Amino acid sequence: MKKTLALALALTMALGLAACGGGDKPQPPASSNPGSSSANPAPGGSTAPAANKDKPLVWFNRQPSNSSTGELDMDALSFNGDTYYVGFDANQGAELQGQMILDYITANIDSIDRNGDGVIGYVLAIGDIGHNDSIARTRGVRKALDTAVEDGGAIKSDAVGINADGSATAVKDGKLTIGGKEYTVRELASQEMKNSAGATWDAATAGNTIGTWVSTFGDQIDIVASNNDGMGMAMFNAWSKDNKVPTFGYDANSDAVAAIADGYGGTISQHADVQAYLTLRVLRNALDGVDIDTGIGTADDAGNVLSPDVFKYVDAERSYYALNVAVTADNYNDFLDATVTYAPVSNQLSTDSHPTKSVWLNIYNSADNFLSATYQPLLQNYDDILNLNVEYIGGDGQTEANITNRLVNLDQYDAFAINMVKTDNSASYTAILNQ
Ligand code: BGC
Repeated sequence: MKKTLALALALTMALGLAACGGGDKPQPPASSNPGSSSANPAPGGSTAPAANKDKPLVWFNRQPSNSSTGELDMDALSFNGDTYYVGFDANQGAELQGQMILDYITANIDSIDRNGDGVIGYVLAIGDIGHNDSIARTRGVRKALDTAVEDGGAIKSDAVGINADGSATAVKDGKLTIGGKEYTVRELASQEMKNSAGATWDAATAGNTIGTWVSTFGDQIDIVASNNDGMGMAMFNAWSKDNKVPTFGYDANSDAVAAIADGYGGTISQHADVQAYLTLRVLRNALDGVDIDTGIGTADDAGNVLSPDVFKYVDAERSYYALNVAVTADNYNDFLDATVTYAPVSNQLSTDSHPTKSVWLNIYNSADNFLSATYQPLLQNYDDILNLNVEYIGGDGQTEANITNRLVNLDQYDAFAINMVKTDNSASYTAILNQ
């Protein structure tokens, strides 16, 4: 019986291969696919199809964690033996962003104080007060500009609203000594950019808010800082470009990098090219049943490998973190297209050793500038290189159910990549995978 089945299979395969002459990728026998799902069952029933709860899972961009305390959700991060998180080093990037702004102030100290009142005033657009990336960036700016106030050993990251007289309690007036002279720095205003429907990191809200801030503060505003480029560019286009006020963001989206030529102060690349690769690579490795470091810290059979200066892996957190780079007038020409894959990991895998697999992947908010303009195009470039057939689901950025409602027909997928709306909500997804 078994023999007959094997024979039939071999025949089907031979026919399949012959039919592939037209350019389709040949599919090697399913038996060489340790992670194969029921859509591609192993011959002879020797290997049962993987249960959904056992399939490789990667969380990306929004790390499972408590949105109030930032504490990592280790249950989600170690959901099964093939679960990982891919993001970037939020603290290292936040320090860089703060330093980039401080460097700009130092280099332009003679002209930075637009109204000459002796106070360097800045406004800050906050992305999401419950998102650790956003929190880190708020802290990084406050730390570098000496406006930070600590609470229990951590820098406060709350929005201050309007702080015209410097009396806000989440920040203090900073003192910077530049060229032997002391300057005061004040966070004039900060706000979480959330729209009425609940979407955070909302660029349109930032574009409107800068108008309100300008009518309150006028030329007291010397610097515009933002937790990301989406909001930063909205404020730049609405006001600071014409008024020549340096504006700083984060993400190195292509439009923001291009705007450096027009006076955008700078941005931080969170190495999305490395993150998008890692997001799919950890799934690829788990599906191939090879060491997780393959094509990451150790070259794979196509020569893909990352050097330690672009990422780190923290085993206790099951997390890969890409490292950040500042993008300013000095180097922006090297970053003009944010959607180009990272050359050291751009070699095509062969379908013989890395057969095509199906992945379900969601982007929490299809309107998010960074995720839609930078991250998803990169994923789409890498999915070809890694022979992954990815189904991209775009969420509305507001409700988890909008996405989880589309986490269906799981048997068709070999692996899952999840970008949550709220970092506390991992269980909404794992409950479905557990079913
Ligand atoms: C990016 C933001 C983006 C957010 C979405 C962050 O890492 O810097 O631009 O809105 O991810 O979760």
